[in-house]
Amino acid sequence: MNKKSFSVIDDFFTNSKETHHKIACLTAYDYPTARLLEETGIDLILVGDSLGMVVLGHPDTTQVTLENIEYHVSAVRRGVSSSILLADLPLGTVHDVESAVQSSLKLRSAGADMVKLEGPLIPQIKSIVASGIPVMAHLGMLCQQILVEKKYRIKGKTSEEASRLLREAHAVEEAGASALVLELVAPSVAQQITSELKIPTIGIGSGPHCDGQILVFYDLVGLQPWFRPSFVIPKVDLATPFKKAVKDFIHETKIK
Ligand code: KIV
Repeated sequence: MNKKSFSVIDDFFTNSKETHHKIACLTAYDYPTARLLEETGIDLILVGDSLGMVVLGHPDTTQVTLENIEYHVSAVRRGVSSSILLADLPLGTVHDVESAVQSSLKLRSAGADMVKLEGPLIPQIKSIVASGIPVMAHLGMLCQQILVEKKYRIKGKTSEEASRLLREAHAVEEAGASALVLELVAPSVAQQITSELKIPTIGIGSGPHCDGQILVFYDLVGLQPWFRPSFVIPKVDLATPFKKAVKDFIHETKIK
């Protein structure tokens, strides 16, 4: 297992910010996808809790367990050696400092290089970092809060929300996060955060000004045509050749 050290990961993010190297990230939940992504030279692969919706067929991410993420991280790890392997801490696994550290250690044992957690959970970020595991923070639309929020929406449209996001972004940086995902953040606010922080921002649905971009792989290649976020333009429609191959197989099987 080729897990990366804290300093290698931290250096990658520091150098990326300093040299304006844009960071490209996609999700993977299984070995073949991870291996193909790795072969493209992608910077970072996320085993996200989006697996609840994309792979497990749940309506949202709230039912994903730590065991789900551990299982998928171990499969993805077998296909990844160069890219950074990032794993999500799902809902309910970081409610206090002790559980945040224990959950992160489990994901690290399963094969993750670093962990990501949603929200400005400053004590948790500090403790995970102190335990030697690099953290990616995640602000903006927090999908784990969807049952409270009721709908997915852009954050930072009002000046109060924009100021709060800026404060939270500085706080997660000061707590020791190595990078920050900004999900569905108003592009002007994402741009301001990006220009003020020393750590890189990775955007999703937050405009072009972040230091990198992240997408759910299945959205990028059109493999879940029943759910298409407005900010994603699929690069290819894999659902159509997928179904054609299966129909051809059915046809060939039945005429023999
Ligand atoms: O779970 C996930 O895939 C994510 C990305 C949307 C950033 O958190």
